[in-house]
Amino acid sequence: MSASPIVDADLEPAGTPIVAGLPMPTFKRIGVEPISGACGCEISGVDLRRPLDEETLAEVMKAFDQFLVIVFRDQDLTPEQHKAFSRYFGEITELPQAPTYGGHQDMQEVRREAYEPENVVPSFEHFHTDSPFLPQPPKCIVMRALEVPQWGGDTAFSNAHLVYEHLSDGMKALLDGLQVVYSGKDIWAKNEKLPPEKRLRLRESHSFTEDQLENIHPAVRVHPNTGRKALFATSAYFKRFVGWSEEESRALLAYLQGLAQHLHYHCRVKWKKDTLLVWDNRFTLHRGVHDFKYERRHLIRTTVAGERPLGPSDWRPLR
Ligand SMILES: [Fe+2]
Repeated sequence: MSASPIVDADLEPAGTPIVAGLPMPTFKRIGVEPISGACGCEISGVDLRRPLDEETLAEVMKAFDQFLVIVFRDQDLTPEQHKAFSRYFGEITELPQAPTYGGHQDMQEVRREAYEPENVVPSFEHFHTDSPFLPQPPKCIVMRALEVPQWGGDTAFSNAHLVYEHLSDGMKALLDGLQVVYSGKDIWAKNEKLPPEKRLRLRESHSFTEDQLENIHPAVRVHPNTGRKALFATSAYFKRFVGWSEEESRALLAYLQGLAQHLHYHCRVKWKKDTLLVWDNRFTLHRGVHDFKYERRHLIRTTVAGERPLGPSDWRPLR
């Protein structure tokens, strides 16, 4: 059998190169180097210890909206400088389950000691979004490396806009009308049941109410600025699709979660000491890659509050 012939519909006229699903924007104040064709960029020419001028900040935000993951190298920041930069993205918020960093209630840490097994870090093995069960799940995470392994320990990301955009029209129509129940209510109870050596490192107390730990959100989420849609159905904290049985829900979810694994939606960031990374927690999935052993990995972070997720029928252009 011969290979299928290329039909005209497969060929698009040459135009502006596309990266992260959109034409490459121009930048005058900052250097922007995409990490992959799918998402992520490295930004140069910015010192985050100082306030950013208006034009530089506008370009950083333009890069964030398109690439969803922005990386700055060699940023030796104090916790206060880290928080000040985070506030450009919105209000810093706490999380119910993530361990806090030192005396900073509004910072969290991801820490694995050299002698510890992989499982001390929550959800290390699956692409996930942080805390989708909250009424307003985090907009973004601002994370900085204090200590990282010499080799390995990267963080990988998957662009949820691209996953949605590559679906068929039939599947898009089905998902556009679906809602998901996310719940974080049983994280602690589940952890308690595990043998001590398998337990996750979780925060011991928090001030969130039970009601705040379970919410219904749209399966397709719309970007509040751009109107671009993205898949917002993923396995961590997932209970079911509203109106669907658990069995039906799991079957569809397994298919969707599988799509996010495809390499052509990904970028992967290699950490170095003082690398600072901001990722959009609404429109990407992420996971740490625990492919290292006998080395310490210590990252600190702030979490910025997001909007209540907008579904396809909620979104209106800003102007
Ligand atoms: Fe996470």
